[in-house]
Amino acid sequence: MKRTILVLFTISLAGCAPATRGESDFIVAADFQTLTYQNVNANAIQPACVRCHAGEDAAADVNLETYAEVFKNRAEIAVQVESGKMPRRSTMDPQAKDLLLKWIAAGAPET
Ligand code: HEC
Repeated sequence: MKRTILVLFTISLAGCAPATRGESDFIVAADFQTLTYQNVNANAIQPACVRCHAGEDAAADVNLETYAEVFKNRAEIAVQVESGKMPRRSTMDPQAKDLLLKWIAAGAPET
């Protein structure tokens, strides 16, 4: 009897072992230095712009969901963000704003 309980206990513990985690499960510290699309997208564009500039109803027909779209609009993005017109009716983390403008000034590299 004791043995059975021990075996069951061991099995239940094994069942609770955490599955191997993918990279996306970890919280990555904000990076306001790296001038790549992936980093700028994660730390500036996604948090400040995409809720209005995505999908078919993207504000002003400016879609900011892909590198190609962002690259195409980079000059206007810089003007809008520099002047504080965008993000519209909201504020942007000053470091994220800096990162976005520096990245565009550096030619908006993809990698
Ligand atoms: C709350 C919604 C909202 C957010 C957030 C937002 N926008 Fe906009 N955006 C708009 C609207 C609405 C317009 C069109 C009207 C206007 O120019 O005010 C616009 C227009 C634009 C335009 C085109 C301007 C022109 O006249 O050609 C650009 C470029 C732009 N936004 C970039 C951005 C960027 C970059 C961010 C993030 C830093 C951002 N927007 C965040 C709503 C938003």
